[in-house]
Amino acid sequence: MTDLLAQVDRSRLPRHIAIIMDGNGRWARDRGEDRVYGHYEGVISVREIVDACGALDIGFLTLYAFSAENWNRPKAEVDALMELLVNTIRKEADDLNKNNVRLHVIGDFVSLPELAQKEMGEAMEMTAANTGLNLILALSYSSRLEILGATKKLAEMVAGGILAPDDINEEVFQRCLDTAMFPDPELMIRTSGENRISNFLLYQLAYAELYFTPVHWPDFRKDNLYEALLDYQRRERRFGKTSEQIQKNNVPNV
Ligand code: FPP
Repeated sequence: MTDLLAQVDRSRLPRHIAIIMDGNGRWARDRGEDRVYGHYEGVISVREIVDACGALDIGFLTLYAFSAENWNRPKAEVDALMELLVNTIRKEADDLNKNNVRLHVIGDFVSLPELAQKEMGEAMEMTAANTGLNLILALSYSSRLEILGATKKLAEMVAGGILAPDDINEEVFQRCLDTAMFPDPELMIRTSGENRISNFLLYQLAYAELYFTPVHWPDFRKDNLYEALLDYQRRERRFGKTSEQIQKNNVPNV
């Protein structure tokens, strides 16, 4: 078996990886199981990927765990997902803390069940001083709503006379997003063969490299992450410039 990890260039890793964890339902259905079984197995992948990112010194990992649109799923599945979230955080919080992981949540936090808010709140507080991997869970998250929220904040500042319209720039806008504290992701991974962004970090992914894999999330393990990183490291990130300009200036290909 090839040692994929050994091939990953540690000096050219993304600082921030964002993942759309898709395919839990199909993975379960392929095995004749209920969709919720796929979500349970998906948690094992979450643990593996968090562990791998921590070991690689990745600064930020954002996981799309529950979209604002996911509330429209059958109530039994939504309830099971919320329960899984609460139980997972309860079970894993101490380990995350020991591993110097800092937990964050983006999305409409107050729309989560009270117990989920409490567990997440406590875990965020417990890990607040940690300096290793920043694990960002997108929960009840909608990028369009996030952008609208930022727009409203800016409109209120302008109406209140504390901001001039001319002073609105990318930096000011970015500070009004849920992700104000985080750099933009350089790599976005989506599992399960769907080639869409599905209302995830629309503003922040402007220059991200997109990696789509047919592997369902419960099957996505460390080697799959290393494959994604190797693919990322083979790409040339040009940010609107030409290939010649990039090579002449010897800008690192990250
Ligand atoms: C998408 O698969 C997955 C979700 C909507 C939930 C993801 C949640 C987890 C992996 C578990 C909880 C996470 C944490 C961080 C504790 P899908 O159901 O849309 O699959 P399908 O497209 O095959 O139907």
